[in-house]
Amino acid sequence: MSRVHDALRRAEQMMSAASEAAGAAAQLPQAGPESELAPAAGFIERLDEVPFRPAPEALLIDLARPHDPPSEEFRSLRTRLNHLQNLQPLHSVVVTSPSPAEGKSFVAANLAIAQGQLSGNYTLLADFDLRRPVIHSLFQIPRAPGITDYLLGNAPLEAVIKRVAGMNLCLMPAGSLVKNPLELINLRQVRVLLREFPRIFNWVILDSPPLLFSADANLLGTMADGTILVVRIGQTTIDTVVRAMQSLCENNVIGVVVNGARAGELYSKYTYYYSSYGYREREEEATEVATAEGAADSAGQGAASPGA
Ligand SMILES: Nc1ncnc2c1ncn2[C@@H]1O[C@H](COP(=O)(O)OP(=O)(O)O)[C@@H](O)[C@H]1O
Ligand SMILES: [Mg+2]
Repeated sequence: MSRVHDALRRAEQMMSAASEAAGAAAQLPQAGPESELAPAAGFIERLDEVPFRPAPEALLIDLARPHDPPSEEFRSLRTRLNHLQNLQPLHSVVVTSPSPAEGKSFVAANLAIAQGQLSGNYTLLADFDLRRPVIHSLFQIPRAPGITDYLLGNAPLEAVIKRVAGMNLCLMPAGSLVKNPLELINLRQVRVLLREFPRIFNWVILDSPPLLFSADANLLGTMADGTILVVRIGQTTIDTVVRAMQSLCENNVIGVVVNGARAGELYSKYTYYYSSYGYREREEEATEVATAEGAADSAGQGAASPGA
């Protein structure tokens, strides 16, 4: 069993020992009552709306350019996930990776946008990287109030979720800086949220910290329905992937997203539809991906590859 997994288990044991001693609950204020999520009807309509105003450097897919290669790739990933959802109970997904800067937030945000473009497909993007959150920066919304403020009982749920205008996408930023992210994630209320959210959202996409640097993502993965592992070409090493996968052994890893791959780098021409393209790739190369989504429709579980 890996170091991370050991650390996770130790953290869990410490937390349950602490709550048995009735100490933890007193130190960490409990969030609002479970019934706060009920009734689900009208919840989304009551949320504050924010404009879709991505930061220029955010590299979020451009809704006005649906045939750009990155948009195609994320729609392809969306299609595979929606196919998987037909086969198993799958609503909450943790997006993680072994190390920092491999594209977890990039993938989580763009996947959420792709999902939020489908009609009736209410999607929540929740920034559970409480250590180095970026979702609020990517979408240029306030970081707080957010998840930590809700979990600490300082804000109601409706105040920490924003609805993006013109899309079926909602954002839950990380919230105020806290010293104890793992303890907050270990609160029962997080489990309750993930259990209850499917009554409101068809997809809940959780951005998270790297697996090999904290136990947060692993713990989230035990509560969510599935985990997506992001690896970045030219950056992620085999050793870190192996260690990350070992740490995830008891979680439901539903697939690997290969981020930053270039055309032909990963697969033969017979599996061309998995190929990926960079933001600056030539237009004629993009047409190869354009033929891909139909093929990917039936691909089901597997790797997807947003370009670098
Ligand atoms: N496929 C990609 N092409 C270009 N830039 C990317 C790609 N994926 C990620 N990036 C950039 O790399 C940096 C790290 O990505 P990020 O998603 O924040 O990583 P993580 O969340 O894993 O720490 C960001 O500046 C992001 O815009
Ligand atoms: Mg990130």
